[in-house]
Amino acid sequence: MSDKVAIFDTTLRDGEQAAGTRLGRREKLTIARQLARLGVDVIEAGYPNSSPEDFAAVEAIAEEMDGPVVCALSRAVASDIEACGRALAKARRPRIHTGIGVSAIHILGKFGDVKYGRTVEEKKARMIEMAVEAVRLARSHVDEVEFYAEDAGRAEPAYLYEMLTAAIEAGASVVNIPDTTGYAVPEQYGALIRGIREHVSNIGRATISVHCHNDLGMAVSNALAGVVNGARQVEGTINGIGERAGNAALEEVVMALRTRADYFGVHTGIHTREFSRTSRLVSDMLGMAVPGNKAIVGANAFAHSSGIHVDGVLKNRETYEIMRPEDVGFEQSHVVLTARTGRAGLRDRLEKLGYALTQEELDQTYQRFLIVADKKQEVFDEDLAAILNDELHSEPEVYHLDYLHFYSGTSAIPTATVRLKVGDEMRESAATGDGPVDAVYKAIEAVARRQAKLVKYDIRAVTSGTEALGEVTVHLESGGRRVTGRGASTDVIEASAKAYVDGLNRLAGLGGRMAADELR
Ligand code: KIV
Ligand code: ZN
Repeated sequence: MSDKVAIFDTTLRDGEQAAGTRLGRREKLTIARQLARLGVDVIEAGYPNSSPEDFAAVEAIAEEMDGPVVCALSRAVASDIEACGRALAKARRPRIHTGIGVSAIHILGKFGDVKYGRTVEEKKARMIEMAVEAVRLARSHVDEVEFYAEDAGRAEPAYLYEMLTAAIEAGASVVNIPDTTGYAVPEQYGALIRGIREHVSNIGRATISVHCHNDLGMAVSNALAGVVNGARQVEGTINGIGERAGNAALEEVVMALRTRADYFGVHTGIHTREFSRTSRLVSDMLGMAVPGNKAIVGANAFAHSSGIHVDGVLKNRETYEIMRPEDVGFEQSHVVLTARTGRAGLRDRLEKLGYALTQEELDQTYQRFLIVADKKQEVFDEDLAAILNDELHSEPEVYHLDYLHFYSGTSAIPTATVRLKVGDEMRESAATGDGPVDAVYKAIEAVARRQAKLVKYDIRAVTSGTEALGEVTVHLESGGRRVTGRGASTDVIEASAKAYVDGLNRLAGLGGRMAADELR
């Protein structure tokens, strides 16, 4: 039997920062449930000490998850570790992930203060003491502690070995070797992992984990080089999302290990058929579209168009396909959703897409489904995801869009009238703008008496055809907080208005420091 490589998913922690926004507790729970269906071994649910919302999300995931280990991140700082301990208190299989910088750049950059030592040597010794204290404190809360040696990709190997030996001695059972800046190249990173196996005397008591960033486009290759050299846990994110250029894309790592098992000689416990829907869920919830040519989960990953290829695939698909689309969950749905589809059919399809709804949520979604189905012949899975994002993943409403009217044209000044329900009060205003969306947003701002900076506006047709649902994603910023708002409608101006109102509701839900921006 080949060795198993554990899959550690950090979509909800390292990945989440990618969109420049925070997922709410409920969204994180929905993604965590799908990650559990996918069969990941570890879910890194968040960084509890970073915000009350993240604490609540980690706590909720810890309480609910039965299969995977639930992990929380901390720095080598007592208050961070204590917060992890509290957030994970109800987890069946908790893990604290704590660590400290090991490269000279990190040590001098982050720990320059003399309180950490006067010379580099003194600082290095202090870092090891801090690592040991952190692991011991984490072990007083949970049995499983993973230690990360931040920026290991640029660290001096001898010092890294010393740090890892101390962390394992203190009780870490997993040691994570992050290439934090995506600086490594595969041969070098592989050699680093081999060096750890050869020079860390107690490494037999720990699993080596690889955590690679994609700044030079080599995250997946580096992670695989780590596996070849003895790493038995791979960290990464769905769709490769993450800060900057992102993390190693887990679907790519897993499918490489599986498709080339002849070369790697290892296996994972991942149910690969869940990849497509997991990818879509993450993309929808974070408002980050997956490029068509993305390996494994892109819309074109299994599409053949040139005559020679199509001819070859029709004769024998193995001529141009090294994986079967169904193995990653690209399946044609046989049940067509129309206005005649009942609640049971809708619930069944939603569950297949990874959404488990309460009866009340199903009723609410069904009403919206019927409206869309009346306008379209057939409702596609993509439409459902957009409807759900629109209906269920919005914050409790402070502002409700009650009425919208606009006109625009080649020779008319774009004008919008908006009525919002704000608490028990109905407020109405009109505005003109550079275009219809601009006019609508100005009118909403005037009615809401709040202003947020529109950082990003994206619109996409969810499916094809002129009657398709349009989904609008906006990123709003206010008081140092950034949120994503989404709205869907067959009318793109209405979708734009809904997205803006959703964003304002999310800012209000965060209790964002909006006072400075208020127009009241
Ligand atoms: O990239 C990194 O170094 C990390 C650690 C916090 C594990 O994400
Ligand atoms: Zn990282």
